[in-house]
Amino acid sequence: MLIGIDPYICVIKRRIIMNKAKRQAIIAGNWKMNKTPAETTALINEMKPLVADANCEVVLCVPFIDIAAAVEAAKGSNIKIGAENVHFKASGAYTGEISAEMLTAAGVEYVVIGHSERRQYFGETDQTVNLRTLAAVNAGLKAIVCVGETLEQRELGYTETLLKYQTKMALTNVSAEQLKNVVIAYEPVWAIGTGVTATADQADEGNGYVRAAIAEVYGAEVAETVTIQYGGSMNAGNADELVAKVNVDGGLIGGASLKAQDFSVIVKAASK
Ligand code: 13P
Repeated sequence: MLIGIDPYICVIKRRIIMNKAKRQAIIAGNWKMNKTPAETTALINEMKPLVADANCEVVLCVPFIDIAAAVEAAKGSNIKIGAENVHFKASGAYTGEISAEMLTAAGVEYVVIGHSERRQYFGETDQTVNLRTLAAVNAGLKAIVCVGETLEQRELGYTETLLKYQTKMALTNVSAEQLKNVVIAYEPVWAIGTGVTATADQADEGNGYVRAAIAEVYGAEVAETVTIQYGGSMNAGNADELVAKVNVDGGLIGGASLKAQDFSVIVKAASK
């Protein structure tokens, strides 16, 4: 019997490797509300040589006020600049908001949408996450859409249901063509900024639920091409194990993206 299993395992392994190869790993920093423009310039200048050899996409999502400095500092390097939010209207009387067109005009390529901190503190809903995602992709931005369960939801056994619901809601009316510019970041709320990382298996499982939700709407073939990151206390010490998982196509990094050395170690882990 065992003799017959070997080739089978080989096929499975080959399929896993092939599927991962279909997707681009992306390591994105989310600086949250940290760094002044001057500090932005200094940190990116420190990071540039450390990530220059990356074999994955390297993105830094920075506060709006830091975008100009970040774009300037990253010029000529492999670092792409992202924003941390975008409004869903094109223009108008929306005091304090920033449109997708303003971001692209400023040299921004990525935007984080629906981070749990925005859901928790700023009234972000699945509907507004969807509207922002549509606005972003329609303007030519790449959307990094965040989903994730709270500890209470996990303990009640709702993780799969919730992740699938949030994913499908975020992607409502997003065409398969537009989906090419969408990345999903699975960020369990209980793992964000807490130092409690999901185990590699939990991250892989959560990302797998997101991929399954995408498959249910767009088909398995399309789902295999979507980059799904893990986020939540990913750091220089645990990145290797996390990004090695079949469904983990890189990471969305908070605290560790504010330290050039640590961030570069994570980029190296995703470059293997
Ligand atoms: P930490 O890496 O600080 O836990 O933050 C994760 C996060 O929220 C990235 O968006």
